[in-house]
Amino acid sequence: MKIKFSSYVLTCAITLLPLAETQAQNLFNTATEAKITQLIKQMTLKEKVNMIHASSSFTSGGVKRLGIPELTTSDGPHGVRVEHGRGWDVETGVNDASTYLPTGNTLAATWNPQLGYAFGAVLGSEAKYRGKDVILGPGINIIRSPLNGRNFEYLSEDPYLISKMVVGCIKGVQDQGISACVKHYAANNEEVDRNTVDVYMSERALREIYLPGFKAAITIGGANTIMGSYNKFRGQYATENAYLVNRILKGEWKFKGLLMSDWGAVHNTMDALKNGTDLEMGTDISMLPHPNYHKFFMGDTVITLVKNGTIPIAFIDDKVRRILRVMFKTNMIGTAKRTPGAYNTKEHEQTALKIAEEGIVLLKNAANILPLKRASLKTIAVIGENADRENAYGGGSSQIKAKYEITPLHGLKNLLGSGTTINYVQGYKIARNGVADPQMIQQAVDAATKADAAIIFCGWTHGYNYNLWSDNAYDAEDVDKPNMNMPFGQDELIKAVLKANPNTVVVLMGGGPIDITQWVGQAKGIVEGWYPGMEGGNALAKILFGDVNPSGKLPMTFPIKLEDSPAHKLGEFPGVNGKVHYNEGVFVGYRYFDTYKVEPQFAFGHGLSYTTFKYEGLQIKNEGGKRRVTLNVKNTGKKTGAEVVQVYVKQQDKSVERPEKELKSFQKVFLKAGESKIVTLTLDSSAFSYYDDKKLNWVTDAGKYEILVGSSSRDIRLNKTILL
Ligand code: BGC
Repeated sequence: MKIKFSSYVLTCAITLLPLAETQAQNLFNTATEAKITQLIKQMTLKEKVNMIHASSSFTSGGVKRLGIPELTTSDGPHGVRVEHGRGWDVETGVNDASTYLPTGNTLAATWNPQLGYAFGAVLGSEAKYRGKDVILGPGINIIRSPLNGRNFEYLSEDPYLISKMVVGCIKGVQDQGISACVKHYAANNEEVDRNTVDVYMSERALREIYLPGFKAAITIGGANTIMGSYNKFRGQYATENAYLVNRILKGEWKFKGLLMSDWGAVHNTMDALKNGTDLEMGTDISMLPHPNYHKFFMGDTVITLVKNGTIPIAFIDDKVRRILRVMFKTNMIGTAKRTPGAYNTKEHEQTALKIAEEGIVLLKNAANILPLKRASLKTIAVIGENADRENAYGGGSSQIKAKYEITPLHGLKNLLGSGTTINYVQGYKIARNGVADPQMIQQAVDAATKADAAIIFCGWTHGYNYNLWSDNAYDAEDVDKPNMNMPFGQDELIKAVLKANPNTVVVLMGGGPIDITQWVGQAKGIVEGWYPGMEGGNALAKILFGDVNPSGKLPMTFPIKLEDSPAHKLGEFPGVNGKVHYNEGVFVGYRYFDTYKVEPQFAFGHGLSYTTFKYEGLQIKNEGGKRRVTLNVKNTGKKTGAEVVQVYVKQQDKSVERPEKELKSFQKVFLKAGESKIVTLTLDSSAFSYYDDKKLNWVTDAGKYEILVGSSSRDIRLNKTILL
């Protein structure tokens, strides 16, 4: 059985980057193709086959005598992973403590494509420094259910937001001269049974929801490589799926780079050879401690199949050619040399801080409890194990040995210095089957009672520290959350503390929605902190005390109850008898909540600020078929801040069932107190079209459309109807 070995273990266009297809596959260049042809001519069959499968846990084979090196990859999405050498044991005594960036959710919540580029540039630069050729990220699967254990690595429930954010990240990585590997292609939206689950969805859902991010990554971002996912899609493994890979990726999108398998995701030699898998990665656990990579599906068997005429050599040559294209483009071969990378620089740490500051979301701020006022707070109680927990090393393959990690408690101490007394109380214990501990709750209540204010850090966890997978992991690879309830008795703790001191703020940590219904009415201040990276604690402290004005917006809907979310209400999760049907179709996230009139806890695109913004003067002009949307946004409060202006399109007379509205443009605007700016956004024809399952093509109906402009999907400030 081929499975990946145990210890296996993000994102944004510069605003100027167009979302139109520009065929960014600059991997193809006639002069290079000629060189590649020459190289291939000199290679033996065995040498070719060596190149299309792994040669160690993170490399694939090279051909030394021809100057072709091994291709060296590393996870992952939010930092360069610890060093594994050629095996799976973590190496010791090596310089592999890297910059730990905020995770995918946090990046997406910035709604700032420039930060996607900056994020990618840190990844690319550090990977290059460490001698890597490919960084295994960003991960961009759609957040379909709040329960997916890997949601924290991913970006959003919305394909438009993903598309805008992923392009910058890829360019950021690749401008450093190495390759990004966008993953996991495709329909890998749950972890339980990820190696076998067979995903079924309508063609429309595939085209409108699940593919646009990948399409943008390839056709606009120009990703050199892509990773095929573990799951099956319509009966065939995704990595070796004729429809996903040959027809769509390499056919429709004209992808010229290499598709590698997820680690151990190849299952059938003939399917892999014929259906477009270029490189088989992974480790066969049954072969440890001496894996024989030649025994891979794309190993020696291929030699036999070519020799006996079952497979034409052209199939193998195409795979080798794609790998060589990536090698030439990233100066692994040829005369040009790579520029040096940089590692753990102050600049990289500042990028991590900036992303956290712009990604943390202020969810609720009743009676302006936030920002907390330093001058009037002599003592604060900081409560919760998440307040002082390091997260970099957890969660699976995205694990990072962080150079350092500022926990929230640490960040508060840095900010407040000696002027304010901080009393830290653990409050709950992250442990297997952890339940409320009356003694710990009492200690928290005592501390909160004596304090001028309390801050509770609660929510999800990656599991045991320094353990990739464990049975109390919620945000981790290979696991999905059993439900959306707060683990470890945190509800009891929060209720008791809120009662003891109403001047209490709750900070949620983790990879997305959690059920807060038991106390949401009592909590005046709620903040979403995600996993905010190595500078996260500093960013959280600055937001809580108003040194930074929050500007993050939710990239996914927070349902009130798990049962309200579409995958659970209309679809299946995680599936039945090895299959999962996405019966909710295109009604994912807010597309469902808005259309089916279900009240969310916090809406997609929601996020408050310490200042206020006024929207006025909406105008929409037709410019050569494109609609130019302009409006004036004014900061009407007393603090400098940033607002994400969101544009949703709603079709009025529908010929088919369509979501109530869909995000089709956005822009983050930075405004000083009292300042106004004219914001201009463009809607091209793709902003109005839907995928017609019968015509198998995109269709735009003539008729009336409403253009809704707002501060969140549920806070629409201006609207106008246009006729198309
Ligand atoms: C994960 C990938 C990762 C690979 C290598 C797999 O288990 O799904 O995201 O890049 O391992 O660590």
